[in-house]
Amino acid sequence: MQVKRLSLAIASAAICLFAQSASYAAGQAPSTTFTDDMAHRRADALVKQLTLDEKLQLIHSEYQMSDVPGGGAGYIQGVPRLGIPSINMVDSATGSGSTVQPSTTFPATLALAASWDPMLAYQFGAAIAHQLREQGFAMGLGGGTNLAREARGGRMFEYLGEDPVLAGEMLAARTRATQDHKVIATIKHYVGNEQETNRMGGNDTIDERTLRELYLLPFELAVEQGHPGSVMCSYNKVNGDYACENQHVLNDVLKGDWHFPGQVQSDWGAAHSTAKAINAGLDEEEDVGPTVFLTPTLVKQALASDQITQARLDDMVRRKLYVMIRTGVMDDPPQGGQPIDFDAARAFAQHAEEQSIVLLKNEDRQLPLDASTVKRIAVIGGHADVGVITGGGSGDTRDPVTGAFPGCGGLTFPTSTGCGWWPNPWIKLPTPITAAIQKLAPNATVTFAGSEDMNNPFRAYTQQEIDAAVSLARQSDVAIVFVTQSSGEDFGELHSLALANPSNQDALVEAVAQANPHVVVVVESGNPVLMPWKDQVSSIVEAWYPGEGGGNAIANVLFGQVDPSGKLPVTFPLRDADIPTWDGGSIAQNPVYSEGLKMGYRWYDAEHIQPMFPFGHGLSYTHFAYSDLRVHQHGDHSATVSFTLRNDGQVAGAEVPQVYLAGLNDPVEPPKRLVGWDKVSLNPGETRRVRVEIPAQMRRVWDTSHNDWKLATGGQFYVGASSRDIRLKGQ
Ligand code: BGC
Repeated sequence: MQVKRLSLAIASAAICLFAQSASYAAGQAPSTTFTDDMAHRRADALVKQLTLDEKLQLIHSEYQMSDVPGGGAGYIQGVPRLGIPSINMVDSATGSGSTVQPSTTFPATLALAASWDPMLAYQFGAAIAHQLREQGFAMGLGGGTNLAREARGGRMFEYLGEDPVLAGEMLAARTRATQDHKVIATIKHYVGNEQETNRMGGNDTIDERTLRELYLLPFELAVEQGHPGSVMCSYNKVNGDYACENQHVLNDVLKGDWHFPGQVQSDWGAAHSTAKAINAGLDEEEDVGPTVFLTPTLVKQALASDQITQARLDDMVRRKLYVMIRTGVMDDPPQGGQPIDFDAARAFAQHAEEQSIVLLKNEDRQLPLDASTVKRIAVIGGHADVGVITGGGSGDTRDPVTGAFPGCGGLTFPTSTGCGWWPNPWIKLPTPITAAIQKLAPNATVTFAGSEDMNNPFRAYTQQEIDAAVSLARQSDVAIVFVTQSSGEDFGELHSLALANPSNQDALVEAVAQANPHVVVVVESGNPVLMPWKDQVSSIVEAWYPGEGGGNAIANVLFGQVDPSGKLPVTFPLRDADIPTWDGGSIAQNPVYSEGLKMGYRWYDAEHIQPMFPFGHGLSYTHFAYSDLRVHQHGDHSATVSFTLRNDGQVAGAEVPQVYLAGLNDPVEPPKRLVGWDKVSLNPGETRRVRVEIPAQMRRVWDTSHNDWKLATGGQFYVGASSRDIRLKGQ
């Protein structure tokens, strides 16, 4: 079956709230004027003029990582005599990962997914692309979209949650923005790279249907709608073959079924062969040495022994040149050394975080805090007097003020990967959370209690520190407790979703909750966390890894300057044992995806497990009423779902109404799947008729007997405020 273009309703919501940040992210208008045909023809012509040595230099990264100019991750030497510029590439999940140039730290991409706003994802991509070009990078490696199958996943903060359509739509928007701003976008890690355990080569066993309907789907959507220049194949094996030499996922699916015209680049050290990889679809190797496979010598040998063809080598080079031409990098390569407007970037980072914070619980309307009545505010834990936490590894950035990983030398971290890969996760902010709170409550006394030990930020709270926090909470009108969960690349998985660093944060929250009836807990994490104290506190806010605008963003939400509108892109379970991969605390070296399609909320639905907070959940300071659902089914199996949404509360806010397709006629399909959504801003009393277009492809199921898609019949559309808060149902 022909895969048609999916186009979900783009969020209509609040994106102009912050003039400075929005204009920073929008930047200059895209100016690439090449048609696809022209780009292909020009790439063909260039290939004909290249010598063999020049071709070989275009498919292999030039430097060891530590030597890449500008602190990038990889470098392809250009061919000046033909006007082909060099390509300097850099990680860019949450901002530029240059190891020598200062960069803005935006919120984690998991936070971005929590905004459910493709327009924001576009702005996010544009804001990062600006800095990449200003620093001299032509390629950004930031498009991570492995699904949150493993709730404890070490790199989950770099990805876009557990639903393939949400992840795919957000990634497509980010990718479009990156390339509209003349930076080649890489999406990664293709495919099945859902865990860090055995990260350099664990073998995933995934059946074809599960692969197609879940793990390949975000990539498929991003390829189709975002047209990324590059797809990075991952470290792991898929059904026996390394992803970077896997004929099925590279040649059959990506380049065959999806007609991907761009290039496949290896993750750093993920290539394992020369001829096998090239013939399976790998186009470029990134070198970390010492074992490399697409070097000039080895590729020449493969040509000489007819293990690969000249035509295939030309195809590899043509793909690269085509991408450079189409994105505008060929004719307008970044110059680097440009001034960066860090203030504007920080304002956008704050705006993005404000749209992504999720209000999980708000008993008795504890939040927002009223600055005119709260006189004594206790801020406890999480080094909230200093900064916010970020994820570690290649998804991290350098300090925007000093350009360094601050204080790294003096800090101890529970990993062997060292300073370069595990920088100080506490960013010294121009506005720490305590200061941001004080600014919004100028007449209140804001006092911090907790650990001030920045030499070991993850050490457990001492009894003395807990006692001090309790005594402060007792004398305060409200106690805001910050808890954190660190994670990062090459850091392994979390063993449990329980708060681990420091290990006794649960005890801290429980002690404070006994001392004060008005406790607000703010979580900074890149994964779901367990909350044994959930029923003992009034309010819970998930702030993710909030980026360098986090202090202000969190304070603005706590005091109602901003109405929280984020929704969970991942399920928060009640206990470890509820997650589909739980095996008593260990993580499989070679994961078997035996839960099949029952992943994320699909698992909890199918197994009738009540999550602590379900996928799609998120509260607001106002209230939204849903009514009058109409489903208009079209002849081509697409549908229009429309309903009325009314803000019947007291303040302006944005809601994310979600459309699920439930009960398809199929014996294997889990109870429901997300098929569309919108993000709608409404003033108090305002009503809007919301229309969500559901393409026919949202009914696709993989037909294993014919090895093709088919459309499932039947089912019912549900419209809800979360996957478990269904407000309307219609045939
Ligand atoms: C990571 C990639 C990253 C690359 C370059 C690898 O270890 O898996 O995500 O892009 O390093 O830094």
